[in-house]
Amino acid sequence: MSSDVCLLIRHAHILLPGGEFLVGDVRTRGGEIVEVAPELSGEADREIDATGLTLLPGVIDPQVHFREPGLEHKEDLFTASCACAKGGVTSFLEMPNTRPLTITQAALDDKLQRAAQKCVVNYGFFIGATPENLPDLLQVQPTCGIKIFMGSMHGALLVDCEELLEPIFARGRRLIAVHAEDQARINQRRQEFAGITDPAIHSQIQDNQAALNATQLALKLSKKYQRRLHILHLSTAEEAELLREDKPNWVTAEVTPQHLLLNTSAYEKIGTLAQMNPPLRSPHDNEVLWQALVDGVIDFIATDHAPHTLAEKAQTYPNSPSGMPGVETSLPLMLTQAMQGRCTIAQVSNWMSTAVAQAYGIPKKGAIAPGFDADLVLVDLDNYHPVQREELLTKCGWSPFEGWNLTGWPIITIVGGKIVYEKGQIYTEVRGQALTFEG
Ligand code: DOR
Repeated sequence: MSSDVCLLIRHAHILLPGGEFLVGDVRTRGGEIVEVAPELSGEADREIDATGLTLLPGVIDPQVHFREPGLEHKEDLFTASCACAKGGVTSFLEMPNTRPLTITQAALDDKLQRAAQKCVVNYGFFIGATPENLPDLLQVQPTCGIKIFMGSMHGALLVDCEELLEPIFARGRRLIAVHAEDQARINQRRQEFAGITDPAIHSQIQDNQAALNATQLALKLSKKYQRRLHILHLSTAEEAELLREDKPNWVTAEVTPQHLLLNTSAYEKIGTLAQMNPPLRSPHDNEVLWQALVDGVIDFIATDHAPHTLAEKAQTYPNSPSGMPGVETSLPLMLTQAMQGRCTIAQVSNWMSTAVAQAYGIPKKGAIAPGFDADLVLVDLDNYHPVQREELLTKCGWSPFEGWNLTGWPIITIVGGKIVYEKGQIYTEVRGQALTFEG
């Protein structure tokens, strides 16, 4: 399909920017939404009968690890972006722990070039902080922000003490996103619990206190310099309570579906597949995180899609790697929660699209209105279907949510006015675009 293709989506339940629904039609042309009305007529290249289906802005997933370059045996930008399309994710922001690390302009350019060739959805990339690359952090373009691993990472990407963190917070203005875990505490507890191979120990080694310590430090530095801070995958009740008390308006936070919906009981069922950083927590943490999300203390949702092969995951703890995939299941997981009364569809869409576009300054995304980009997902909220391993498109080929019976599965996903996914099929010739970031 050419880029000036015109789509007419008819009779959909359309989520409008104010959170109301309109049963009506949407016309897209040249990659943009051009009309939204109860009834539209006229020619279109393709008319989609969306009777009974719900039209939402495409999901923007602001934290994924897509493994290319260097770790393509786990995932690559093509397979990951196909998984995105199937999951209704029309844009993603990807992390710098690839090989080589994304810590220079050249590495960022390489990723952008690869993505332009391979990605069926839109893409943006973080630049990773090291103790030595401050000049790069100040200059590279285009990037959604600086990623700092305060813990849970080895090698050059680890920036784990205040003396090294402070200059990064002090210089420049761009968004800093932190993986907040206290590496010194983790190292000490690793020694204390050495020899234990039950993966459930992971949540005790990298405990709530380790997360809280690092979040407190990031918050302190952000306040000292009034520096734009984003706290990635908030996982504990203590951090949520801290932010409820003390969250400057230049700070945002996210939570993953797995930290809302899974807890330490998952280790018994799925073993090391439940191992991630920061780790799964208690049912109490689940509850407090939900409440913080509903109350606006937590701003939005990210998957932290971090695939590893089943063979890698089959190694005995602690040799098993941390991380789980998520882009294919996040929207149906959250919409199922909405259909079960835990929140509204409009809240889910805000957390998974609108609020993300606003926080990262991504223009023309996150709403269904004339002038916005035609990144859309049409979902079916009336039928339930289980997560099944054989249907997954992620190269790693598994999900921690296998067997979960979910509704809200995407029927059609549209990127830049082009259908990229329709009823099980990916249109592999579609290409996304590089995202831009304001301010
Ligand atoms: O569990 C995780 N795995 N958390 C991270 O932050 C990194 C990720 C990975 O890249 O595997």
